Amino acid sequence: MGRKGQEEREKGRERREEGVGGVGKGSVKRREREEGRDGEMLVFIIISSAIGIILYKLVLFLMEWRRDIELCRKIPSIGPAHWFWGHINQFVFYIFQKFTSITDKVEKEREMIKNQGAKIFHTWLGPFHAIIGVLHPDAAKEIMKSTEPKPVFKDTDGYSFMKSWLGMGLLLSHGKKWERNRRLLTPAFHFDVLKPYVQIYNEVIDIFLNKIKMNQDKEKTVEMYDLVTLATLDTMLRCAFSYNGGIQTERYCSKKYTRAVKDDPEQLNRRRLDFLDILLSAKDDEGVGLSDEDIRAEVSTFLLAGHETTASAISWSFYYLGKYHDEQQKIYEEVQNTIDRTDFFTWENVSECRQLSLFVKESLRHTSPAPGFARYITKPFVLDGVEFPAGTTIGFCINHINNNPHIWPDYEVFRPERFLDTEARQRDPFAYVPFSAGSRYQISLVDGFEYEQDPLTVTKAKYGIKLHMEERK
Ligand code: HEM
Repeated sequence: MGRKGQEEREKGRERREEGVGGVGKGSVKRREREEGRDGEMLVFIIISSAIGIILYKLVLFLMEWRRDIELCRKIPSIGPAHWFWGHINQFVFYIFQKFTSITDKVEKEREMIKNQGAKIFHTWLGPFHAIIGVLHPDAAKEIMKSTEPKPVFKDTDGYSFMKSWLGMGLLLSHGKKWERNRRLLTPAFHFDVLKPYVQIYNEVIDIFLNKIKMNQDKEKTVEMYDLVTLATLDTMLRCAFSYNGGIQTERYCSKKYTRAVKDDPEQLNRRRLDFLDILLSAKDDEGVGLSDEDIRAEVSTFLLAGHETTASAISWSFYYLGKYHDEQQKIYEEVQNTIDRTDFFTWENVSECRQLSLFVKESLRHTSPAPGFARYITKPFVLDGVEFPAGTTIGFCINHINNNPHIWPDYEVFRPERFLDTEARQRDPFAYVPFSAGSRYQISLVDGFEYEQDPLTVTKAKYGIKLHMEERK
């Protein structure tokens, strides 16, 4: 009896209240009770799912943390890690420590490479996040040769912050999408597309030199990097998007290109096939072109990747020209001889300037514009005897590889001749990686064309500038 009898009585009462076929007070109450039970059930499901997800994430996080701790035990680091800051203090909190600057950190790493012969190392960024860095081509090449993706999957992954800005263009995409788009965009670097660019370089450099001259007349010092960045942005916009909008001469003109494309496409000087044409007309084997989203991503990617890196490379080249006068003189004479015959730089002249090419290569070795890149490994890899499980992010320290004392014994010396064929042929091709290497190699390097021979670097020798270093007052 007991509970069952009570339920029966309850039901009977409800039936009486409803009457035959009626919708009475009882049924309303019952529905309310059922709805109440449904609501409670929903809240219960939501809360328990949330707890489940949090617990799942926590377990994953702890497992990754444990895996990183175990991995880091097997790999050298650049000194003891603080339990909370890890090695961050060496970047940021040098005021409280004995470190004076980021260059101290770099020097410490170089020392470690020299003394311990370390090929990989680890750094703790805070208590939970470890970074594995590769310092030697032996450890780097297997992953570089693979098509492993960039770390873009979680918000904390190294490349994720660029996603909303660059979109999933060539730099960030992977797998089938990357393969297809890389194939579609490679024709943009065909000789026939690149050749007319040399004339554009001449036009850009004329404006650049005029600006230097104006400052010189006023006896004003100039921040070279700013001028060079405008020049490389101007070059990219003219070459790749046929846009000639006074980038170097007018203020606040960065929005002008966007406006020109949207409102007045006539401003675009479409005399020849450019990168934008290739983006708009590219079709894969099924006849499908790039989506609007893809085009936007590739435009942003190429604008950034194409002008920031070259600006940094050219600025460092200027620095080394000012520092090493003998090298400057050699290049001056080489460029002068070339220009004596043609009066302006031509495509053919570019490959005639051998010394210039060697100089730029050495400059890129000493100070690479892109300090590093990373891969997220989807299968286990063994680096320097340590097995890294799938799911680990591996960073490649371009500057350390390019200056590794075990590969480059006189790495501190600025010696462009080290890139002469006789020496270069004996070196591991993965020992010099300013443009990365393997399958994700810098796209603008076409076989047989040496991208680094950019006439912008030395400018027109005949009427050009002479660089020397002077301490700032
Ligand atoms: C001195 C000049 C340059 C340097 C040092 C440089 C360096 C690099 C490096 C290291 C990477 C690999 C990045 C990574 O794996 O995360 C890369 C990729 C890339 N760069 Fe450059 N770059 C330069 C100039 C340019 C120019 C002029 C363009 C375009 C016109 C460009 C477009 C790209 C693109 C699209 C990628 C992604 C390639 C892919 O993953 O398929 N870069 N570059």
